[in-house]
Amino acid sequence: MDQPLGNDRTATARAHSNIALIKYWGKRDAALNIPAVGSISLTLDALSTDTRVTFRSGLEQDEFWLVGTRADATRASHLLDIVRDSSGVGSRAVVESTNNFPTAAGLASSASGFAALAVAASAAAGLSLDDRELSILARRGSGSAARSLFGGIVELYAGTRDDGLDSFAEPVLPPETWPLTVVVAITELGQKSVNSTAGMGGSALTSPFYPAWVDTGKDDLAAMRLAIANRDFEQLGELAEYSCLKLHGLMMSTRPALLYWNAATMAAIHAVYELRASGIPVYFTIDAGPQLKALCLPEHAGTVADALGQVAGVQETRISTLGHGAQLLP
Ligand code: ADP
Ligand code: DP6
Ligand code: CO
Repeated sequence: MDQPLGNDRTATARAHSNIALIKYWGKRDAALNIPAVGSISLTLDALSTDTRVTFRSGLEQDEFWLVGTRADATRASHLLDIVRDSSGVGSRAVVESTNNFPTAAGLASSASGFAALAVAASAAAGLSLDDRELSILARRGSGSAARSLFGGIVELYAGTRDDGLDSFAEPVLPPETWPLTVVVAITELGQKSVNSTAGMGGSALTSPFYPAWVDTGKDDLAAMRLAIANRDFEQLGELAEYSCLKLHGLMMSTRPALLYWNAATMAAIHAVYELRASGIPVYFTIDAGPQLKALCLPEHAGTVADALGQVAGVQETRISTLGHGAQLLP
């Protein structure tokens, strides 16, 4: 990669991935990437993306380097075009990014990836956006990325406006307020075969469950807000499992079917049930992929990680606390 030149405009940002407790799946506007349902997530300290954006005059096209390898820049270019339009910066950019976890595998690399890109690109272009504007910009790249702008527990609103300006995320609880812990059980390092954007498009078009999914989303959000306000971990866990299984039911009823689980995912679900039967308060959730995230309290994280690490097919476990919001790096 080239060295920065004199007229380069450059900035670097870090953002953390997140795991949805109440899931987003489906869009009410695909072009503006406006979600059909609201969602609530936990920002994960252990999973992060660092991204440097350099606008460089003379460059013929945007370049996207992911963990040192040149990758398809289409999605990054789409977000960079929005930044160029609003800033007047005309040049193409070099985007150099690193995820410290598997990409496109169901660990929300699009969330940390587009949150970091939104923060770095807008700063490099000299825009001074507030948190809400940054969240909307990140959402244009990937819906879940709107939430990774913030730390702790975060809600993304579906909104009602056609222009999407009321579809942004806001923090619900800062990370220090409630020491929730997430044990990530990675069962597959490779990329999923149907990415989230294509998958949710398929569900909206073909699943008879999709209208019910959209209709009942508001109730799930309200119940989760209450559980959080009451610091009721068992209620939070139960609702998270419910939203997860409801989502995977919707996915399985899509044609062609979206079956993101493998045998280890199913075995890990049962390991969580067994831990719970033995008296440990632990609940699971799973995004669009075969990875299981176990929600627990810090005093049980070691036991939960040991149990999940022994499940056949689990390749790696990571213990994560709640992370902070996206930030510029020096
Ligand atoms: P995931 O479960 O990892 O979020 P998705 O299918 O939602 O999977 O999104 C994967 C896509 O996100 C990748 O194909 C790529 O386009 C984009 N992406 C992943 N990591 C980054 C990154 N660091 N910077 C920009 N875009 C990224
Ligand atoms: C199952 O945010 O990756 O993880 O907006 O098309 O980029 P796009 O989708 P994405 O979808 C995330 C789906 C999910 C649930 C969630 O994170 O809320
Ligand atoms: Co994603």
